[in-house]
Amino acid sequence: MTLPQLSLVCIGFGHVGQRLARLLTEIAPRLDFGWRLVAIGTRRHGSVVDPRGIDVTRALALIDSGQPLDRLDPSPRQRSGLDVIRQAARDLADEAADGRLVCVESTVLNIDDGEPALSHVRAALEAQMHVVTVNKGPAAFACDEIEAMAEAVNRACLFEGAVMDGVPVFNLVRETLPAVRVDGFRGVINTTSNFVLSALERGQAFDDAVREMQARGIAEADPSLDIDGWDAAAKTAALVNVLMGGSVTPHQVVRTGIRQVTAADIGEARARGRRIRLVASAARHGGAIEARVEPELLTPDDPLAGLADTENALYLRTDLLGDIGIVQREGNLTQTAYAVVSDLSRIAVRLRDETRR
Ligand SMILES: NC(=O)c1ccc[n+]([C@@H]2O[C@H](COP(=O)([O-])OP(=O)(O)OC[C@H]3O[C@@H](n4cnc5c(N)ncnc54)[C@H](OP(=O)(O)O)[C@@H]3O)[C@@H](O)[C@H]2O)c1
Repeated sequence: MTLPQLSLVCIGFGHVGQRLARLLTEIAPRLDFGWRLVAIGTRRHGSVVDPRGIDVTRALALIDSGQPLDRLDPSPRQRSGLDVIRQAARDLADEAADGRLVCVESTVLNIDDGEPALSHVRAALEAQMHVVTVNKGPAAFACDEIEAMAEAVNRACLFEGAVMDGVPVFNLVRETLPAVRVDGFRGVINTTSNFVLSALERGQAFDDAVREMQARGIAEADPSLDIDGWDAAAKTAALVNVLMGGSVTPHQVVRTGIRQVTAADIGEARARGRRIRLVASAARHGGAIEARVEPELLTPDDPLAGLADTENALYLRTDLLGDIGIVQREGNLTQTAYAVVSDLSRIAVRLRDETRR
């Protein structure tokens, strides 16, 4: 069987982008698609567009040694992420037209407006690329718009890695729960906050725990996004918009982070046999959806109470199946990179189906 061949335009090549490049190489024989990297755009590490394909090992080595990616470019020049997308679309016009060009977006979220990911996603779809993003911005700020855009140009826009890394949440509901209505959810979906609260329980200092999450590449580039609940609020907005058909931005999620939670609060909770966890939730009230992110004092029988360190969980309240729980025992970069792999695989399946028709 001939495997669909995907050409990847990576906008953002930090922790997630680099782990993805390595993972795709490591598990190549298991994939149901072939791939090559044709463009990389970053903010401060240069860019490269090469329709002949980029040597992944050399690209990773340049980044590791702090040298700009421009060294791999046939005609190096300064380009923004948008420039990279547009040039790749021009240089690989046939692949874009055939649906084999995929923009993999993994830039850092600006919580004010969902940029720069939103502009990258729009530009990529306009250029007939499929889009896979791990960025919460597009689904949290403009879900309806980008889904309509993707449909209009007959391309996929997927973002499984935006919530709970590689564990299927969006694809689970879309692919396996037809006709089921999601009426709400409750979950622990920010790894850094959960790790910090668990560390406080062990007597570790708040700032040390944040630093550990930064060192592991899990905390956001600006960890206050995790600590102040913005990351969880963006994920909550994305879940509300995609799974519940809502239309909220992270700014409409009622939000309290864990900055004010002290070791004394944790000790007091433990003395009463309880645990504090940062809980994200949403529920329908009549025609409206209320979404919240806040530290909650949980009793031991609460399914979220047992989650420690890098564990996440999401419980969906559905009309036909009752409550469904998705638990992630360990969240790390490989799992986020895997989310991109699973989305690329869906695009490959779609390409195969289109070829058969
Ligand atoms: N890390 C995780 O565990 C995880 C899990 C799930 C989802 N995510 C999401 O994945 C995304 C990336 O995370 P990360 O940990 O890989 O971040 P990161 O290590 O900071 O990497 C971000 C990359 O985006 C580039 N970039 C930033 N702004 C850009 C712009 N305007 N144009 C072009 N490139 C730009 C950066 O370039 P420079 O390095 O040159 O600045 C860097 O290559 C974030 O949205 C995050 O929320 C991360």
